Amino acid sequence: MKNHTLSQYLLKDLTIKDKIIHNRLVLAPMAGLGHIALRQLISEFGGFGLLFTGMCSAKAIPHENPNVSLVFNWRQEELGYLVCQIFGSEPESMAKAAIRIEKEGFFGVDLNFGCSVAAICKKGCGAALLKSPDLSSEIVRAVRESVSIPVFVKFRMGWDNNPQFAIDMARRFEDAGADALTFHPRVAPDRRNRPPKWDAITLVRQAVEIPVFGNGNLFLAEDGAKMVEQTSCQGLSIGRMAVAKPWLFAQWAEDFSPREDIFYTTAVRMAQILLDHYTDHFAVKLFKKFSPYFCANFKFGHHILKKLNRAQTMDDIRNNLDSIFESNPETLLRPNLNLFL
Ligand SMILES: Cc1cc2nc3c(=O)[nH]c(=O)nc-3n(C[C@H](O)[C@H](O)[C@H](O)COP(=O)(O)O)c2cc1C
Repeated sequence: MKNHTLSQYLLKDLTIKDKIIHNRLVLAPMAGLGHIALRQLISEFGGFGLLFTGMCSAKAIPHENPNVSLVFNWRQEELGYLVCQIFGSEPESMAKAAIRIEKEGFFGVDLNFGCSVAAICKKGCGAALLKSPDLSSEIVRAVRESVSIPVFVKFRMGWDNNPQFAIDMARRFEDAGADALTFHPRVAPDRRNRPPKWDAITLVRQAVEIPVFGNGNLFLAEDGAKMVEQTSCQGLSIGRMAVAKPWLFAQWAEDFSPREDIFYTTAVRMAQILLDHYTDHFAVKLFKKFSPYFCANFKFGHHILKKLNRAQTMDDIRNNLDSIFESNPETLLRPNLNLFL
């Protein structure tokens, strides 16, 4: 598939429940990275169909104040294309959170059955739910019965390398009322260090009628085209690469051609938007989370990252960026995966 045919595929309408999106390229949910500032930056470039928040605690959402919450917050203008992801382990609290999400005007709600971080799994949330298929179904059903916005489910292969399990779970999610699936074909203890098994996306896609977004290791447009051809998935979900290149959506879907200074201008803009939304202290923290992915674009990315990480304030960040880009650092076609956490 050539790049222009990838763009033609991406710009085909897709129906999710009773809503239509005009672009099948979406931002994957990422805690600590997919915050309001990154989403604003991505929105300024455009080229996507939906954006997802990082996971929010379902228990907290009914009482959360978006004016002070660092995760359950948004810009009014993004709500029409923003899906809020929640994690939890009880059907009732997941349903209550979904009701608030619907009331606030989000496009949809996404249920996390994929996070394998110990702190989340220990509470029986995220990928731990895949050990309890009946409870997983109950959660999806409870949410489905409580709201009319689209219900998404994001899940992984499970805890063993068994694609049949993923197929069974996909069918369960669909039967319980999910409107779309995002499938990340890795087993739960595998934290992105081995390649995802795209063949399993094909199997999941064939097992259900609802749209399936393929996810995992999409770096270049060629990768996107390959996943579409290989799996026939109905959409692509981009995680880490959207942090490294927030203009990727515009590039893949709308033939946006970045100018030579795109890296510098994007990093400076990221810093500015972070400051618009957060205190200096927190903006520095979030910039440092963004930095490894951004630095993965460069041949001497480790060196650049070290320089950026010395910053204590956003002024330091800005000065460091100026000095780093004075020497026109060499970029890479494929990101340096050692910097992708
Ligand atoms: C820092 C980080 C945080 C993440 N947080 C979430 C999350 O909150 N919810 C979720 O479903 N997946 C989360 N993920 C997984 C991504 O959504 C995605 O499945 C994974 O990064 C693979 O896609 P990629 O190769 O395009 O990055 C996270 C990934 C990263 C790197």
